[in-house]
Amino acid sequence: MIPSAVIDKAVEVLRAGGLVAFPTETVYGLGADAANPEALKKIYAAKGRPRDHPLIVHVLDLDAARAWAREVPHAAQRVAARFWPGPLTLILRRGPHVSDLVTGGQETIALRVPAHPVARALLAGFGGGIAAPSANRYGRVSATTAEHVRGELGDAVDWVLDGGACDVGIESTIVDLSSDRPALLRPGSITARELEAVLGTPLAAAGSASPRAPGTLAKHYAPQTPLMLMEADLLLELVASMARQGATAAVLARSAMRPLVQGLTWIAAPRESSAYAHDLYANLRALDSAGCTAILVEAPPLEPAWAAVHDRLTRAAAGSSPIA
Ligand code: TXA
Ligand code: MG
Repeated sequence: MIPSAVIDKAVEVLRAGGLVAFPTETVYGLGADAANPEALKKIYAAKGRPRDHPLIVHVLDLDAARAWAREVPHAAQRVAARFWPGPLTLILRRGPHVSDLVTGGQETIALRVPAHPVARALLAGFGGGIAAPSANRYGRVSATTAEHVRGELGDAVDWVLDGGACDVGIESTIVDLSSDRPALLRPGSITARELEAVLGTPLAAAGSASPRAPGTLAKHYAPQTPLMLMEADLLLELVASMARQGATAAVLARSAMRPLVQGLTWIAAPRESSAYAHDLYANLRALDSAGCTAILVEAPPLEPAWAAVHDRLTRAAAGSSPIA
């Protein structure tokens, strides 16, 4: 656990309008005082993120969330009672005093009560809401360790709280409860099925009627090296043909056995979905830094437990043109 003097220092930085990176159970957040527009502008500058991409406000509990939402409907109360604190973000109608820099000018706000003890100590010490996107450059892979945060953001962040590697490893599930048609905007470790069980209704997929969630557009969460997602047999064929052409592959395998090919970078990922998610971004960073021609990822199973991982990998692959 982080000494309280270190938390106090981070709280001072937030009060002074600075940026504090902190661990949550999902990924690291790049935090600022959600009620301070000048501080919020620094988030956009540090990430290189367009101003109309809204931020999640992190709060200590459901009561604190009420200060940011116009209303907390019954469905949201039930879901919050079951999953907060935890890796779940709720989209609700915004309260009257919320800055457009938080909402991206939309009529809704994203709220989350994180479970990580360091995030909670920071929220308790600060007392207000902390707006925090994932602590990475815009469009890139989220950071799951303090070193990754420093590598991504360098001096643009004033204080980094180091809480070790994040447990979940991928971003929170986002569910839109701002209308009477609940919708899943971003899959995460809390599955659609678990939410539906509490809501008692099926979740709509994100559609044109849902609020925009720009970070969920295609081509997000991407390494710099072109990334392709494919079945194991095709992957092994491609590794062989790339080697014949003098190209190098960096592979994220799950079931495939490593072939005897020179210059190959190979990571055998965990076989189970939550362990796979825990390591995913660190693995993509390692493969990206290998300096290979392409990253080849063995497609995970098409099962509900893998939906969030599938979503992130598909986005990481979007926009990479297949190599010949
Ligand atoms: O796990 C997480 O959610 C992490 C940790 C730090 O809490 N945060 C995170 O933030 O992933 P970010 O900004 O990287 O992703 C938040 C997503 C974005 O896609 C954004 O567009 C969407 O939430 N979002 C924020 N406010 C929204 C709103 N009012 N309506 C719809 N989508 C919203
Ligand atoms: Mg992000």
